[in-house]
Amino acid sequence: MILGLIASLVLPSANDLGFLVEPYLQIGNQAEVKDLTLVWHDRPNRPVPVVEYRQGLGQWQKAKSTSQAVATAKVQPFEIFSARLSGLTPGSRFQYRLITQGVEVFSYWGFTPPAKSQSQRFAVIGDCGGASLGQAGVAYYASKEKPHYLVIPGDIVYDDGTVRDYRARFFPFYQRGVPSQRRGGNLLHFAPTIGVLGNHDIGSRNLDRDPDGLAYFYTFFQPLNGWSGATEPAATGSQINVQAFKSAAGANYPVMANFWTRIGDVHWVMVDVNHYVNLREEGLRSWIKDALARGQDAKWRIVMLHHPPFHSSPRHAEAKQSRLLMEIFEDAKVDLVIAGHVHNYQRNFPISVGDKRGARAEVLNRDDWTLDKSFDGKTNTKPQGIITIVNGAGGARLYDPQLADQPNQWKPFTTVYKAVFSFGIVDVTPQRLSYRQIDQNGELLDEWAITR
Ligand SMILES: [Fe+2]
Repeated sequence: MILGLIASLVLPSANDLGFLVEPYLQIGNQAEVKDLTLVWHDRPNRPVPVVEYRQGLGQWQKAKSTSQAVATAKVQPFEIFSARLSGLTPGSRFQYRLITQGVEVFSYWGFTPPAKSQSQRFAVIGDCGGASLGQAGVAYYASKEKPHYLVIPGDIVYDDGTVRDYRARFFPFYQRGVPSQRRGGNLLHFAPTIGVLGNHDIGSRNLDRDPDGLAYFYTFFQPLNGWSGATEPAATGSQINVQAFKSAAGANYPVMANFWTRIGDVHWVMVDVNHYVNLREEGLRSWIKDALARGQDAKWRIVMLHHPPFHSSPRHAEAKQSRLLMEIFEDAKVDLVIAGHVHNYQRNFPISVGDKRGARAEVLNRDDWTLDKSFDGKTNTKPQGIITIVNGAGGARLYDPQLADQPNQWKPFTTVYKAVFSFGIVDVTPQRLSYRQIDQNGELLDEWAITR
């Protein structure tokens, strides 16, 4: 027994041998994405690997890494390392490796962000971190599509967006050494991943209950150009727990709840529309208008948020608050709104705001919006209005599958409704945005395009 005790104190367990979280790619804090940031999590006081990267057979370049300590309760203290990879050729591949004491401990390849006029492919996986077979199948087939980057319209991980949740239900599914339909894919190693807050991601704002909550704010490295008046999600709890969180999140909190970014021809605006946000607040609305105005020279404008403005599921029928933003989106010529929250896939007819302006109950509660029913995304690819989709079938338990075969039960604005685990793949050129929704078995569910 004594020997066993000594061994348990001295010998590393299998868990101690690898990273806490293997390297994953982030867009970092640039508004216009050119460089990438490589991030990994490790225990304190371990040798820090040297990061090297190269394109083709060129010289390996070294990237300087920095680290941020996370010392919240409920998890052992750990460090989040990040290294900026700069000087990459847009829209191509590169290799990276981590070397500790002369030994390569990790290596992979990644995609660099596409530039203007270059074609690009991104994946959409919503409401994903549920630790299900569906999540694994989606992750696997999304990886096979080799997107340049991945976007997640919220509810990144269940149940409450804690460090423990990320380690159990998020990272393992997208960092498989050997990808498979039953275990997941390898997206996070090669595709920079962008998230926005869903209700589960902010479910741990009470830091006395979940001291490692709101982990979004230190797991993701995203632009810090959000609304400066943001005070939510409010982190509550004892001073020691709140301070530990704030020190881990640093400048990311709370401004990273909203942000805009440009990746090649696509201008992205991400908005936190959780229940605590007042979408009538003029400061926030001005920020959204400004963030979209900065994308008026882009070929495509896409908004990503969690609660969909339009959907047909009885579940979450009350979630309509994003409708208050539709007039801003229309004025700014937004092409596509990507949401999640409702755990299935829904596509709506192109929607015009018409008389549904202002903060009136009619805007929230009436379903008789102006629709372009002539748009089918195949023979007619020029929508009159904004296309909104629900992409919440990435892994969490599906909602209202019975509706899939009952179009007469759908709201007037819904044209496609699929309640199987699935993800989106979007191919973008300056003239065409082509969308495919693919299920957990790799089968095509929906396909449509917008052309200029
Ligand atoms: Fe949600």
